[in-house]
Amino acid sequence: MERLFLTGVPVTGNDMVDRDKELKDLKNLMNMGQSVVIISPRRFGKTSLILESLDRLKKKAFTVYIDLFRITTKRELAEAVINGVFSNKKLPDLVKRVRESWLDLLKKVEFKVVLEDFEATIKLLTADRDEELLNHALDLPEQFSKKYGKPIIIAFDEFSEVARLDGDQLLKRMRSHFQLHKNAVYIFSGSHESLMNDIFTDKKAAFYKFARILTLDSIDRSAFEEYILSKFKSVGMTITGDSLDFILKKTVCHPYYTLKICQTLYLVHKGDKKVIDLKKTEESFYLSFLSERSYLDEVWAKIKSKKYLADVIRAVLEERSPYEVLKGRIDRQYIYNALSTLENMGLVRKPARGDYRLIDPFLSEYLKEL
Ligand SMILES: Nc1ncnc2c1ncn2[C@@H]1O[C@H](COP(=O)(O)OP(=O)(O)OP(=O)(O)O)[C@@H](O)[C@H]1O
Ligand SMILES: [Mg+2]
Repeated sequence: MERLFLTGVPVTGNDMVDRDKELKDLKNLMNMGQSVVIISPRRFGKTSLILESLDRLKKKAFTVYIDLFRITTKRELAEAVINGVFSNKKLPDLVKRVRESWLDLLKKVEFKVVLEDFEATIKLLTADRDEELLNHALDLPEQFSKKYGKPIIIAFDEFSEVARLDGDQLLKRMRSHFQLHKNAVYIFSGSHESLMNDIFTDKKAAFYKFARILTLDSIDRSAFEEYILSKFKSVGMTITGDSLDFILKKTVCHPYYTLKICQTLYLVHKGDKKVIDLKKTEESFYLSFLSERSYLDEVWAKIKSKKYLADVIRAVLEERSPYEVLKGRIDRQYIYNALSTLENMGLVRKPARGDYRLIDPFLSEYLKEL
């Protein structure tokens, strides 16, 4: 499929709109050795921001990127750290190579020094001692950085998934290792604001006060307008002002949904080289909305499966206090519990006390249609 606007993959380089401030802040914090946690709703551009930052920093530092969604066991976590670290010495997939052709690897002179320096890692990899391997892996970035005299940055994307591997225990274990590190700096990211708060901001949290919090907002409107106009222009298409306004109002500058609508417009109308007007835009908006429908149906099924959630999320949609809207119908305590559950599900956020907002603009649209 021909892509003009990228959706569903991380965007870097010229395709990254806005985010200059965040990139600068991240760079400064990394240079200061200050670990960071990036929190934002789904598809706001966390992975893109991390990858672009690592790319910009890799001349000065070793870098490691780990997506915890892909990791299902503690052993895999250890192996991902090891692979990531050694990739910095042109030794990607070390774990597999040790398993499959250890002798071939040893014959390669260019790797001899690194492999000798980290003999302990190789020995543990060939042994069957998962817990020991994980402890070793958690300290490996620090040792690697010390050995070769260059800082190291390790990014854990979707960090709240760690709890899935071994509950709070593993989080505590990671913190106890990381807090002793002087050369390694960490970037964490996660979509569920409340889960991330449980890990980083709660006083009893495993990573309390470990990392500076960086929240990612939607994209700056004028930066988005400029980008969309110039992208269409690059393929000989023009989009009218009211169309652009329609899109950005519907998506509230949500990066993924905005680009999704633009890409649909492009696919439907490329070739006609005509002006994209409001009618075409409304149609493409609806097509994009339909393509997200099965995801939204799933979310709705989850909402309906628990008592009061549907009433409360509808009240949130009205942008009035759910306590006021539902007064006399649902007990305050139940409303409070439902709001917490919706926050934990990553559907609702509380920008200020008493102010609740739906995070996903397409979900708002879906609820309005019901
Ligand atoms: N700065 C940006 N400029 C342009 N598009 C962006 C930007 N950030 C995100 N996007 C759009 O959003 C999509 C998702 O981006 P990305 O995967 O980085 O977000 P995420 O927050 O990591 O998402 P998830 O919660 O699914 O992990 C991209 O494919 C792109 O369409
Ligand atoms: Mg991501």
